[in-house]
Amino acid sequence: MDFPRRGAPRSPDRPLVLGHRGASADAPENTLAAFRLAMKQGADGVELDAWRCATGEVVVFHDEDARRIAGSPLRVKDATLAELRALDVGAHRGAAFRGERMPLLAEVLDALPRAVVNVELKSSGLDLGLAAEVARVIARARAEDRVIVSSFDYRLLGAFRAAAPHLPVGLLFEHGQAWRLEVALALTLMGAAAVHPERVLVTPARMAEWKARGLAVNVWTVDAPEDAERLVALGATALITNVPGRTRELVRRRTGR
Ligand code: G3P
Ligand code: CA
Repeated sequence: MDFPRRGAPRSPDRPLVLGHRGASADAPENTLAAFRLAMKQGADGVELDAWRCATGEVVVFHDEDARRIAGSPLRVKDATLAELRALDVGAHRGAAFRGERMPLLAEVLDALPRAVVNVELKSSGLDLGLAAEVARVIARARAEDRVIVSSFDYRLLGAFRAAAPHLPVGLLFEHGQAWRLEVALALTLMGAAAVHPERVLVTPARMAEWKARGLAVNVWTVDAPEDAERLVALGATALITNVPGRTRELVRRRTGR
């Protein structure tokens, strides 16, 4: 059966602004509070990190374990949903956020019905089942038209492409020796719709090459105004930022949109 491929989310006349883990400069990362605040600040959407926990649900969290965020050694992949939900993932950012709970991916898609959502697949070891579960959650939420799925791990992206061949994927990469090879392999093997480079890797020549190949170029993490200015001028497709309010305002000033 043939699936029409959806492209990466884009705006025709300006870069999209996506809150990195939500409005994470102002609210606890990867919580509903941070995602809602990003939208309130004017973001087009959010980036988030997705893991599968021991009972199979897709939860939104960045780290492998909960030490940094909740002072608990629980590892996301080994913990049940009930154990993860018992953690307070907001209090580390102050009393105003006490009681925030680790959200399910399904809850975020439901709470932000108009947001573009960049789902980054995370796993320790190789949880290929994550991809199929994320595909199911996106389908159940009828969010196909507003998502892009990314990962540093091309094996996870490959698994997602197999589970949802009609949905766009983007390869994440950062500075380091192997990124050119990884990008070439991933683009050839899995027909990525986007590249998600670390901001320091975006040069005018590379941007021109990626755009000539029809790729969306979604850059992270773009917080400093001078970086945002440069990337708007180069024609980035999306800016993934911890400060979506300020970045959205800069995009508006530079593009008039
Ligand atoms: O998606 C961009 C960025 O989030 C990748 O790095 O470690 O913040 O998930 P990290
Ligand atoms: Ca991420």
